[in-house]
Amino acid sequence: MASPSTSPTSSSRVAKSLALYERALALIPGGTQLISRRPGRFAYGVCPIYAESASGATIHDVDGNDWLDWVSAIGPAILGYACPAVDDAVREQIGRGAVFTVNHPAEVELAEELVAAIPCAEQVRYCKGGGEACAIAVRIARGVTGRDRVLVCGYHGWHDWYLAANLDDDTRLDSHLFSGIEPIGVPRALAGTTIPFPYGDLEALDTLLHRYPGEVAAIVMEPMRSDFPAPGYLEGVRERATRAGALLVFDEVSTGYRPALGGAQELLGVTPDLGIFAKSMSNGYAMGAVVGTRAAMESAGRMFISSTYWSDALGLIASLATLRELRRTDGVARLQATGRLMKARLNQAFAASGLPGACEGPDWHPGLRFHGLSAGQPRLVSTLFMQEMAAAGILTYPSFYMNCAHTPADVERTADSACAAFRKIRHGLEADCLESLLEVDLVEEPFRRLVQ
Ligand SMILES: Cc1ncc(COP(=O)(O)O)c(C=O)c1O
Repeated sequence: MASPSTSPTSSSRVAKSLALYERALALIPGGTQLISRRPGRFAYGVCPIYAESASGATIHDVDGNDWLDWVSAIGPAILGYACPAVDDAVREQIGRGAVFTVNHPAEVELAEELVAAIPCAEQVRYCKGGGEACAIAVRIARGVTGRDRVLVCGYHGWHDWYLAANLDDDTRLDSHLFSGIEPIGVPRALAGTTIPFPYGDLEALDTLLHRYPGEVAAIVMEPMRSDFPAPGYLEGVRERATRAGALLVFDEVSTGYRPALGGAQELLGVTPDLGIFAKSMSNGYAMGAVVGTRAAMESAGRMFISSTYWSDALGLIASLATLRELRRTDGVARLQATGRLMKARLNQAFAASGLPGACEGPDWHPGLRFHGLSAGQPRLVSTLFMQEMAAAGILTYPSFYMNCAHTPADVERTADSACAAFRKIRHGLEADCLESLLEVDLVEEPFRRLVQ
């Protein structure tokens, strides 16, 4: 299979993808199952919409193109696609069956491994994804405390409990990853039960805790995403949660094992009552877990939290194999080293191109910052960047989800292509002609309504 070689003006290299998507739009409301897989999130018309297979760091699309992929399946592919250590274990289990009338011993084995790896983990429950795990954690927190209100910071999935934050004012979640979420179909009776707070601002958290004394069941937050917390911030949240009698829940769906096998909580040294893991825990097989202290988790045994496929042996086996392979190959250190190289090479590319900007952020998830842009320009610049990278056969956002299959050669190729893209962006900015350089629609930006 060849890399895409036609110019970004041509849509023919992804013609099959585009035709399939046309059919999807007539059959699948919204077109895709995950908002982040909507083609408008990439450079529409030049990026693939459907993949037939993938291996390592490469996606093979339905048109026969290969793409160097820096999005890692939007997180799950931590070891790289089709990792033999995981897939062989899963294949072997397929031959023995996937779900049974009774349970599979891997449930216990994995629980022991998670308890050994994750600081807050003394007990474990499983499910099939991140949003589902968040819903379980909130149920547990409400059940343990007998309280209803939940304070949130970050993105926590699609369920009613979370989208309730936008019932009073549908801009409340705008700074928490997805903006423009209208809580259509969420019962109005849930208004006021979930209240967002801004990251990094202990005073704002204090204000909410004082406004609702004795009412907050949980503080649910992403411990970090694209930046590290200021010193003392998470410790301050921890202390306030304890004082308020609320459970502290770290949603580690996005961070996962990339900062450390024990998650961001291990790296940052702050231990929540509950931790939520999904995406990266099973290298692409459906899986989620809520882990936590015995005190927080134990009463879950008395709550009605139950589902048939949560016992699926394939997810359990994939999770065990993922954890063991990461440990065996020192995978976390390796992907972080690739991330450091990526930052260094992209910063050189910025310097060489003369475009003001930087590649920064955690080693496992570095991102580009374009400096000195005026209102309206960031979206043009991101789109042009993604368009130009696509022309070079590289599928990426302006940020990079590192995995163990990415190589220094992938970084070199990416840096060379990024340097050319940066030069083009610089020219577009200097000549005030960014728009005329675009061959594709603008990528969907955060402030756009998801449902139009
Ligand atoms: C921090 C966080 N929580 C929850 C979710 C939802 O996970 P899922 O899409 O598996 O339901 C995501 C997904 O991106 C996430 O990043």
